[in-house]
Amino acid sequence: MTPKPFSLEGRVAVVTGGYGVIGGSLSAGLGEAGARIALLGRRRNAAEEAAAKLCAGGVDAIAVVADVSDADQLRAVRDEVISRWQRVDILVNAAGGNVPRARSDASSIFDVPLDAIEEVMRLNLHGSLIPSLVFGEAMAAQGSGSIVNISSMASLSAVSGVMGYSVAKAGLDNFTRWLAVDLARRHGDGIRVNAIAPGFFVTTQNRSVLLDANGEYTARSRTIIQRTPMGRFGRPEELVGAVQWLCSDAASFVTGTVIPIDGGFSAFSGV
Ligand SMILES: NC(=O)c1ccc[n+]([C@@H]2O[C@H](COP(=O)([O-])OP(=O)(O)OC[C@H]3O[C@@H](n4cnc5c(N)ncnc54)[C@H](OP(=O)(O)O)[C@@H]3O)[C@@H](O)[C@H]2O)c1
Repeated sequence: MTPKPFSLEGRVAVVTGGYGVIGGSLSAGLGEAGARIALLGRRRNAAEEAAAKLCAGGVDAIAVVADVSDADQLRAVRDEVISRWQRVDILVNAAGGNVPRARSDASSIFDVPLDAIEEVMRLNLHGSLIPSLVFGEAMAAQGSGSIVNISSMASLSAVSGVMGYSVAKAGLDNFTRWLAVDLARRHGDGIRVNAIAPGFFVTTQNRSVLLDANGEYTARSRTIIQRTPMGRFGRPEELVGAVQWLCSDAASFVTGTVIPIDGGFSAFSGV
């Protein structure tokens, strides 16, 4: 039989934020490649609805409920997934995003409440770090696994208005490299940790910043498009191929990377 290095047939994947815009697209893509999916978020109804849709399309999917910043809840989910499917092969950390109260688009950074900055950092840094440790432990025990974090263009240079988010995503890039190195050195070449860094996509958490009441681009959107050589926003399904690849045996020597998927945004000086 011909080996299929890109196949995820029979793999067990946990996708945090698995019913969000980007997480939902990645869940469907992993399912299409053959993985069984546990969709994780805080709202059971929303998770169940998304899982039912995947099941209707022939994917083996379940809903699991946890807050990504709560290690006890995540351990309970890990036990639930392992008792159902005996293993965890893939973790995609897609829960995250901006917190409106932590933004300083129209105000001074000095007026942003510190607790809002802590909240956005906790969601975007701890909210990937804690699940990676909880599920990574199971991967270390079984000797194989692939973790994919979702970084951002905000990790590379200053994106106005989103200081806490940017700091958290920059930390996430370092965490991706740190954990990749540590797990490979201590647990061998079967466990890999990578990240994708999406450019700009219109999703639930940023719609009101990128589109006005008539659905037209805001001034911020126009600046983004101007700085994106491909001249458009990305589509969530355009993130799928890279994540399928990173989770598959085709990427067996790839660890510690942060891969931009950004229409050229990060390559462009703006001149
Ligand atoms: N949109 C973009 O342009 C863009 C660009 C670069 C990177 N990203 C990153 O891509 C990821 C997904 O973003 P998105 O735009 O697809 O967001 P989204 O549509 O708002 O989805 C976010 C998901 O995360 C879940 N979530 C939020 N807080 C959680 C928590 N504390 N515990 C568990 N689940 C939680 C939400 O479900 P519940 O609220 O029901 O729990 C939801 O399913 C984020 O990390 C974001 O920073 C987005």
